Amino acid sequence: DLYHEFNATLQFDYYNSMLINTVDEDGNFVDLGGEFPLEGNEHFNNMLVNTQQSNIQVPTNVYNKDPYILNAIYNSEALNDVFISNFQKDPTLTWQYFGSSTGFFRIYPGIKWTPDSNGVAAFDCRNRNWYIQAATSPKDIIIMVDISGSMKGLKMTIAKHTINTILDTLGENDFVNVIAYTDYVRYVEPCFRGTLVQADLDNREVRPLSASRRLKELRRCLSTNGQGSMCNQAIMLITDGAMEDFESVFEEFNWPERRVRVFTYLIGREMTFAQNTKWIACNNKGYYTHISTLADVQENVMEYLHVLSRPMVINHDHDIIWTEAYMDTVAQSLLLMTSVAMPVFSKKKETLSHGILLGVVGSDVPLMEVMKLAPRYMLGAHGYAFLINNNGYILAHPDLRPLVSSAPSLHEPNLA
Ligand SMILES: *[C@@H]1O[C@H](CO)[C@@H](O)[C@H](O)[C@H]1NC(C)=O
Repeated sequence: DLYHEFNATLQFDYYNSMLINTVDEDGNFVDLGGEFPLEGNEHFNNMLVNTQQSNIQVPTNVYNKDPYILNAIYNSEALNDVFISNFQKDPTLTWQYFGSSTGFFRIYPGIKWTPDSNGVAAFDCRNRNWYIQAATSPKDIIIMVDISGSMKGLKMTIAKHTINTILDTLGENDFVNVIAYTDYVRYVEPCFRGTLVQADLDNREVRPLSASRRLKELRRCLSTNGQGSMCNQAIMLITDGAMEDFESVFEEFNWPERRVRVFTYLIGREMTFAQNTKWIACNNKGYYTHISTLADVQENVMEYLHVLSRPMVINHDHDIIWTEAYMDTVAQSLLLMTSVAMPVFSKKKETLSHGILLGVVGSDVPLMEVMKLAPRYMLGAHGYAFLINNNGYILAHPDLRPLVSSAPSLHEPNLA
């Protein structure tokens, strides 16, 4: 990335994991396909893999020859040698991968990606826990959705899809509430009236915070290290724009520090209120997007992650994240895994000050491998080892009985 100038007309062939080894009626390999040798490998749960080459998955809703995708894939080719050499140096390594902020996912060893039952590859690396946790610091998010009279039909459908897409970007370190408003305010989840709830692995099963956890979060948000809070606070405002006299509210409650960023999502085709909605975002360190169709939702929602990833450039303390322990469902074993990941920022001089996020690199690690570093015989008769990650989650403990088996479906590799 550092030495590459963006080339809008770049032609570049890559191995697309959905298209490899696929031929057309005439027996020719399809575009972005090509011959890609695969063989069963015991170390990778007997899956068919290619240990000489990583390959690329692009979600079906992202154009696989978009110039931004092509340039970023071209740049990330250099990772191939790094992945191979890592695996040679440490044969206990499992999957190594790079999730790009443009949406593609480079995985080593290379695999054939099986589409889901609808024939699509819905997997978007930017929605995964490891990506979001590495790309942003913990977030407190309030989603405010306009349910006034004009938000009917398609607009409401788009608004709901936007909410769900935002929820999908939240991990277990984030806190969220959804508020619907017309002329009065209504909490969508009335049990949690007025409080933020933890955006757990399963977003649909929001649970209220325990007092101790809340305290811990508060303390973390308030520990400033002289560089401001590490916690991001944001309001996501979803509306078709009809509002007035809002300037003074921000002036009174959010200025001059502007601690709470406001992201605005203008729904529908009308642009009458674009100025208002843009003003709110731009004057509260947020980002304005216009969403006129369902197809616009995913990419537009992703934009906010770029803005929220920026504080991390200043403070690299939280660069490496270990996700919560999860079951390796591909192996159908009781093997507990963690994903270790860190964000990748552009080093281009002109972008250093804004911190442009290129993506997230990561690897899946069986916790057993880590626990081997503390063998029983070194711990003494009553000693035992446990693992705790930087968010205070216990990853491994002799008494740990995992309750959640976060189940990535079988067609996906075992990535949390
Ligand atoms: C951009 O890519 C095209 C096609 O790959 C190539 O012919 C052209 O020379 C490239 N332009 C620059 C400025 O490198």
